[in-house]
Amino acid sequence: MVVATAAVPAAPSSPYTEFTDPHLVQGRALWLDTCEGCHGYGIAGAPIPMQPTEWAPRLRKPLPLLYRHAIEGFFGPDDTYMPPRGGNPELSDSQVRAAVDYMVALARHHINVTR
Ligand code: HEC
Repeated sequence: MVVATAAVPAAPSSPYTEFTDPHLVQGRALWLDTCEGCHGYGIAGAPIPMQPTEWAPRLRKPLPLLYRHAIEGFFGPDDTYMPPRGGNPELSDSQVRAAVDYMVALARHHINVTR
């Protein structure tokens, strides 16, 4: 039964899982700043880390290749384009790698929970 007086919705929890590893905490913050705008919603064909079917093929690639594609930019097989550093030239290589590490951890997490 729905109680009408309980109309105040609970704050929606973030779909972006937080991990305790400090490296991933930093990666999550960077990812939210620069990458989430596309990857959170599939803008321009960006693979969504909460969608296992979109991320499974990426997780089969070696991590150094994912880093390189994120740093240098990458045209995928469907001609969708990942811009270098997500379009933020201020990010250092290690910051981009941290954001990739967070997105990979998030994708792995979602593949595990849906298995
Ligand atoms: C303007 C939109 C946009 C932004 C912002 C963006 N991406 Fe992407 N990204 C894409 C698209 C589109 C693809 C898919 C390219 C393809 O495989 O067709 C992609 C793919 C990727 C991939 C997979 C590469 C591969 O080899 O499969 C990684 C890793 C990635 N992005 C990391 C990042 C990181 C890290 C950031 C933030 C620093 C970021 N992206 C920001 C659009 C974006």
